[in-house]
Amino acid sequence: MRERYGVDLAARYLGVDLPHPIGKGSGQLSLNAAQLEDDAAAGLAFAVLKTVIAEDETGAQAMVAWAIHETRMKVERRGRTGWTVTWKGRGWDRSLAAYLALVRTGRDLTHATGMLVVPSVKYHLPRLAEPFRDGEYRHTTRRLAEAWGEPPLLLEKDFSPTLAGDALSEDRAQIVRWLREVPDRICQAAPAPVLVAMKLMNARFDDAFQLAMMDAASGADALVCFNRLFDSVTGVAYGGWDLSDRNLRVLDAYRSHVRLSARPPDRRLCGTGNVCSGRVLLEYAQRGCESVQLHTFFQLPLSQFPATRGSRAQRALHALVFDPRDGLVAGMLELEAQGKLERRGGELHFLDLASDAHRPH
Ligand SMILES: Cc1cc2nc3c(=O)[nH]c(=O)nc-3n(C[C@H](O)[C@H](O)[C@H](O)COP(=O)(O)O)c2cc1C
Repeated sequence: MRERYGVDLAARYLGVDLPHPIGKGSGQLSLNAAQLEDDAAAGLAFAVLKTVIAEDETGAQAMVAWAIHETRMKVERRGRTGWTVTWKGRGWDRSLAAYLALVRTGRDLTHATGMLVVPSVKYHLPRLAEPFRDGEYRHTTRRLAEAWGEPPLLLEKDFSPTLAGDALSEDRAQIVRWLREVPDRICQAAPAPVLVAMKLMNARFDDAFQLAMMDAASGADALVCFNRLFDSVTGVAYGGWDLSDRNLRVLDAYRSHVRLSARPPDRRLCGTGNVCSGRVLLEYAQRGCESVQLHTFFQLPLSQFPATRGSRAQRALHALVFDPRDGLVAGMLELEAQGKLERRGGELHFLDLASDAHRPH
């Protein structure tokens, strides 16, 4: 890319350098070794494993309602040109031991191929008057750290759309407390250094509360913005353009908020939600995201990709990067023509978009 187009796609997730910004979000597409191997072969920059439900040393899980088994997923159109995956399942439904085996496979693949693999956890979230179940935090984090080996352990904490739709999330003060306390609890529970990305939900409140959530999570090393919307009528999570519209609108407000405070943000951002083209990816980057994580686009019917060969992940990457109109390269050249991105050392740098986003003007 650098030689041919003068475009440097280098990106970051949780402070780790990546060759480009495109990774896979946690879900049904990162459940086993075969999926991870295909993704590494396709050249994805990172993959987040399916969310495991934390447990204590006796195997008790406070969030057991999220460990349910459900296999059927339906890929459907949503809105004029959007797509969504309809699925009633929730978290990892097998044992913690099976998850730790997948973490070890992910670690080996990270070392062998450079594709960064990251586990994801749903830990106990108490009601306001209740204490956190520290046993779950301790046991699960320790086991993950042992499985990964060399520190730091990188970890995503998932706040899912079904949690947003749950009675537990009706109380704003309760959500704010989780976001304030959870990063520290994970770090305290870990036997060695851990870097925590908080994948924030789209709460069922207004944009201002979404910003309050970002502020409350100030102990996190990174924020993943934001998990899918929840349709309380049908009881399912959904994506598509409604999701990216909301996420980009809130990230816009966050950008203004950071610029006004005239100090660089202390957390790194990773975007998620309806990244279905290089163009949408660049919208997230211009609002401060140093990388993005996708799910739905990796699940579209093969007929939706211009490439006629290769795995889904390969075809998806090809479209996201090279589409002559909506791809990442075309989009970066267009931003240059509009004076929104300047060459340094003869190259356009993807990461300049994110760092410019939060610079006071
Ligand atoms: C079927 C399905 C299962 C998912 N499971 C998880 C999960 O276990 N943990 C999590 O953090 N996100 C989960 N997600 C959210 C995705 O990782 C992603 O953030 C979200 O779908 C938005 O990206 P997209 O519009 O590219 O799909 C899931 C999404 C789908 C569609």
